[in-house]
Amino acid sequence: MDIELEEQAAADAAASLVEDGMVVGLGTGSTVSHLLRALAHRALSLRCVATSPRTEEAARLLGLAVEPFGTVDRLDLAIDGADQITPDGWLVKGGGAAHTREKLVAISAERFVVIGDSRKPVSQLHGPIPLELLEFGLGSTLRRLGTVRLRDVPRSPDGGVIADFTGDVGDPAALAEVLSGTPGVIEHGLFAPAMVTMALVARGTEVETLLFA
Ligand code: A5P
Repeated sequence: MDIELEEQAAADAAASLVEDGMVVGLGTGSTVSHLLRALAHRALSLRCVATSPRTEEAARLLGLAVEPFGTVDRLDLAIDGADQITPDGWLVKGGGAAHTREKLVAISAERFVVIGDSRKPVSQLHGPIPLELLEFGLGSTLRRLGTVRLRDVPRSPDGGVIADFTGDVGDPAALAEVLSGTPGVIEHGLFAPAMVTMALVARGTEVETLLFA
């Protein structure tokens, strides 16, 4: 219950950044479900892009206007949860397996705002790091990645196989480069500080703002 209140506080703080007429990227997860309700409550005129079918469905049910991402080439603001947030702005995302679409939406937004409860800040990133893998050549990709396990969840909406890298994270920039450079890896859940404008982290009813890019 306390965590739910923190999720709500962070989501409310992010919703207050949204202005009438904006094009807004909507993340995925339990924190974002509070955001959707807060945005619907504000009754602004918005155009939204969703990072997953479940967010799209929930947003539409609340009366938010969701457009296919193919018809939108830039967003004013994207708001999403995270699994881990470091003091210097590195994120791990993809606990809900939506990290490929989440990264594409985040990178397309002028400002990307991360929201989280008090469990999310960490001093250093740790595994597992979510992955989305191409089915073609999967056995070879798994062998080359080495420390990886398949996740027992449905394919991504784009047909990708969901897995987790379970090796040491070490320097996240170096690991991100290795994962991005591994043929067969569609996307990984490491988000670099350069794509994160700010994090809104709730502790109790207080929301701390951390500024990054
Ligand atoms: C979805 O794939 C994830 O990146 C989520 O944004 C992340 O796991 C945070 O989710 P919660 O808000 O449910 O903790």
